[in-house]
Formats: sequence, structure tokens, C-alpha cells
Amino acid sequence: MPDRIPLSVPDLRGREAELLLGCVRDNWVSSAGPEVTAFENAMAQLTGRNHAVATVNGTAALHLALLAAGVKPGDQVVVPDWTFAASVNAAAHAGATPAFVDVREADWAIDPALVSEMLANHPTIRAVIAVDPLGHTADLDAVEAACASYGVPVIEDAAGAIGARYRGRPSGSGGTAAIFSFNGNKTVTAGGGGMLVTDDAALAEHVRHLSTQARPGDDYVHDMIGFNYRMTNVNAALGLAQYERLDEMVAARRAIAARYDEAFSGLAMVTRMPRPDYCESVSWLYSVRLPDETSARSLIASCDEAGVEARLFWRSLSAQIPWADTPRLLRGVSTALSGTVVSLPSSSSLGEQDQRRVIDTVTAWHDSLVGAEA
Ligand SMILES: Cc1ncc(COP(=O)(O)O)c(C=O)c1O
Repeated sequence: MPDRIPLSVPDLRGREAELLLGCVRDNWVSSAGPEVTAFENAMAQLTGRNHAVATVNGTAALHLALLAAGVKPGDQVVVPDWTFAASVNAAAHAGATPAFVDVREADWAIDPALVSEMLANHPTIRAVIAVDPLGHTADLDAVEAACASYGVPVIEDAAGAIGARYRGRPSGSGGTAAIFSFNGNKTVTAGGGGMLVTDDAALAEHVRHLSTQARPGDDYVHDMIGFNYRMTNVNAALGLAQYERLDEMVAARRAIAARYDEAFSGLAMVTRMPRPDYCESVSWLYSVRLPDETSARSLIASCDEAGVEARLFWRSLSAQIPWADTPRLLRGVSTALSGTVVSLPSSSSLGEQDQRRVIDTVTAWHDSLVGAEA
């Protein structure tokens, strides 16, 4: 039996070991060190932002972004109904209640028209989170335009979209602040980690302050209730080594997506994930949509038998236990996507032979079902 093909794993073929060894050699293993600053500078440059603050993970970055944007207990935060739980959890950590808005059929990203409608009816909304799904961005200009007339800040949750471009500008350039995740399944991993980027010096300073226990000096004096949210230098070293190969790793993910696109173009039951015209997607996690959950689960089971890891992607959040009584503005898209989107192996290290195995497995599954129906 050949090795199992994983969904999305770290691609550590650069200077990771060298930079990690440097941390140990130089005794920089905790939350201060040259790699933290270097990684922050690299991310500021990549996104064209003036400031970057490294955090322990993307959820922490989003939590601090919301606090710095002025979100307080009792406020509401608009969250797309189809995203990872971290987006809404961060709003809850800030003491806010989510107001869920549906995503669009065309891009599976937050619907700017529904954002406008939600803002018009809920004056206590204090921020809007625009999530970049699957490696492409939300329609950022449209979301920002919807929010501008209400003076409500947008936070771009670019957790999985490092390297993407929206109408020529980099992902992470949207909103008052944007965040990234360097979780193990992302294109660039730091083992674990996050980054907040912004052009607002005061906001960046505030986030840095909150992330280090709100301690203005070396003394044990604290002027606010802070958090221990700083990234360690070990994680930053890993992230920096990965960042050096960003272009190569993005190119690899795009090439995999192009190959899958072509191979699946004739499969009637398989709809390829959107790559909207307004964006150059990095195709972080290649996903397909099936007609219903039964066929999605059947595809996953066939992949499993063939040693190919495939997984159901996000589900509607408003339908889940913690959010039963929250406001929502839905048009059925998030519900239809729930349980029907299947992610396929997309690691940048995935070789041609393994890509072929994925393609053959999906195609054989499709032929067996279509054959059975005929
Ligand atoms: C859309 C989205 N937002 C936020 C996060 C949170 O990032 P982290 O896992 O680094 O906390 C993720 C993580 O996968 C994500 O997909």
C-alpha cells in the first residue's frame, strides 16, 4: 500500500533547520528575538502595510484587532456565516455578539449587499470581519464601501490567503487591520502563529501592548488587562524560513490547482471552487463542491480507501450550538455549502505522482457513481 497522501502539511525544504538551530545557538527561544522583528518586517513589506505585530496564532491576532478597533462587550460584530470558527470565536472573546451574514454563491465570501442591510438594521455593530476563503480574498472594496457610510471598521481575516492579490493589491491590505495565520496547514507555517498588519501606528502599538500583558516597561506595572499573545522567536524563525520560499510554495499550490481543475472539468458532479476575477488566488486548499452531503461523504470514503486524505470543509456557523440565538441574514448559500465542500490534498510538496493518484481516485469515484446511475 503506498503512503497515505495528507491534506495540507508543512513543506520544510528551506532554511528551517538552520534558522531554528540559530535560535538555540544564540539563546533566542522565547518571545523576544531578531526573527520576530524580521518576520514582522517581512509581513509588513509583503502586504504594503506600515506595521506588523506577530502573535501566538491567528485567532489571537483577530481578537486583538477587534479590541483595537474598539469592540466592547455588548457590541455586535458582523461575521460571514461560512468561515472557520476562529473568526466568530475572536468576536466572542472580545465580548461581542456575532451578526452572521451569508456568503455569495459566486465567491463563497461575505456578501457586501447583506453587510449593508445588516448595518442598516443594527446600530450596535462595531466591526465587520471580511474572511478570505480558501486562498482568495473577499470582495474587499465592496465590503469597505458598505461599511464606510456607517463608519464601521473592516478587519480582513486573511488567515489562509498569504500571497493572494485583490485587484492588484496584496491580501492583508484590506480594512483597518488584517490578520494571517501560520498554522501547520497554511501555505506558510510557523508551527503556530499569527500576524496583524495595519497602517495605523497607534493601533499597532496598542495591539503590541495588549499582546505583552499591557506592561509599559520592565517593571511589574500594568495599565490595562493584557494578554500573553506574543509569538516566540522559535516560531518566528520557522515562519521566516518558510516566508523565504513563499513564491515557490504559492506557485506549487497554483500548479496543483490548475492540474486538478483540468482533470475535474469533465466531471458532472464536481464543481470546482471559485477563483473570482477580482483576485489572484493562491489556491491554499483546493476544494470541490458536490451536489449534496451524501455524495461528499461518499467521495471522502473512496479517498480514504485509496489512502488519500479528503475532508469536509466549513459549515454554517449560525446553525451551530453556541450561536443558536444570534442575528443572521442568510440567503441559503452557507447552508448549501455546509457538508458539500470537500478539500483535497494541496500541500506545496505534493509530487506529480501523488497528484495523479488524487486525480485518479476522484475520477474513479465519479465514474463508479455516474456508471451506477446510468
Ligand atoms: C478563516 C480563519 N480565521 C482564523 C483562523 C485562526 O488561525 P489560528 O489557527 O492560527 O488561530 C483560521 C485558521 O485556520 C482561519 O481559517
